[in-house]
Amino acid sequence: MKLHRALAITLLAVAPASCGLAYGAGSAKNIQAAPVVAGSIPVAKAEVDRGRYLVRIGGCNDCHTAGYAAKAGHVPEQEWLLGDSTAHEGPWGTSFPTNLRLTMLRYNDQDWLKHARSFAARPPMPWFTMHEMTDQDLLAILRFVQWLGPKGEPAPPALPPGESWIGPVVRYSVSNAP
Ligand code: HEC
Repeated sequence: MKLHRALAITLLAVAPASCGLAYGAGSAKNIQAAPVVAGSIPVAKAEVDRGRYLVRIGGCNDCHTAGYAAKAGHVPEQEWLLGDSTAHEGPWGTSFPTNLRLTMLRYNDQDWLKHARSFAARPPMPWFTMHEMTDQDLLAILRFVQWLGPKGEPAPPALPPGESWIGPVVRYSVSNAP
């Protein structure tokens, strides 16, 4: 019985790759039962490549990868999405781009889709753009982050308005908060 279950899970996990449906309609059904530990499931290369592309052109590195914009994108991939202690300060207080290599790995496919479609975060995170992404694109981004694996420290916690950060700060004079 146990063997049966293990076999079924393995088949489910490799199905999109073997059917060539890595980011076709079938991949949304490839839902894991529990939060995924990086490296514990076989990931389809095409889906990882698609995720890498989306992260790059979606601008996620501009904020979530320290020094990315300053170095015109010349940051090794292993250093991507580790968050940044450069503060973003505005009428909302002070926010720090999250270390996605830690936070995103908490989600299984289903929970990630739910979260990515419903969350709101402090500026300047463009959360409303993520609500518009297709299942396939959101899952490809998750797959890429799972493939990169966990690394780094959590970003500093956000500060309320009126408290200032001792490190580097980007200041905004208007809020894009709803
Ligand atoms: C302009 C800067 C900026 C860009 C671009 C950006 N982010 Fe963010 N992101 C942030 C900041 C700042 C936070 C922390 C917000 C807070 O403290 O509420 C954040 C938070 C998040 C969170 C955590 C929200 C939560 O509670 O789960 C996720 C997930 C996320 N970003 C994913 C992405 C992805 C994926 C991309 C690219 C498509 C992206 N971000 C692009 C600045 C940015």
